Amino acid sequence: MIAAFPALSEYSAVPLTTMISVSNVSMRFGAKILFEDVSTAFTPGKRYGLTGPNGAGKSTFMKLLSGELEPQKGTVVRPRKLSVLSQDQFAFDAYRVVDTVIMGNKRLWSAMEERDSIYAKPEMSNEDGRARGHCRRRRWIFRRK
Ligand SMILES: Nc1ncnc2c1ncn2[C@@H]1O[C@H](COP(=O)(O)OP(=O)(O)OP(=O)(O)O)[C@@H](O)[C@H]1O
Ligand SMILES: [Mg+2]
Repeated sequence: MIAAFPALSEYSAVPLTTMISVSNVSMRFGAKILFEDVSTAFTPGKRYGLTGPNGAGKSTFMKLLSGELEPQKGTVVRPRKLSVLSQDQFAFDAYRVVDTVIMGNKRLWSAMEERDSIYAKPEMSNEDGRARGHCRRRRWIFRRK
């Protein structure tokens, strides 16, 4: 059900360590057993494809990997910082690609929205001017991080 495709970085000198590990994971819904004692590991630099028939448990397994679901048995160890692109491919159709990426950082995105709403005003009050300075400072802080 899980296939690994070698990526270019696999041939580099970068050592491969485990990125996500799955140990003895079991999951069932009622009488339907999806996984029993599944153990596997995902390493950086590889691309993984998850295939299987409808209802086999692919989406459930992805939820276990991302942490959206906790396994009924076993453990999943994942990095503290993990990004997940949801399966809804139309969810961000209304946005530019660069904005979609920035939305991944909620604080930065809200600062940019605040800035854009201030710049969109035909006239700027003293308070708007102060808020604009605040947005600039926040952007500067984000750039330094
Ligand atoms: N929260 C839930 N409660 C009960 N049953 C569930 C739940 N989530 C999933 N299932 C069942 O578990 C099975 C696996 O579902 P899952 O969505 O993981 O399969 P899938 O491989 O992603 O299917 P598809 O190819 O259709 O996307 C299905 O029979 C589904 O009905
Ligand atoms: Mg699915």
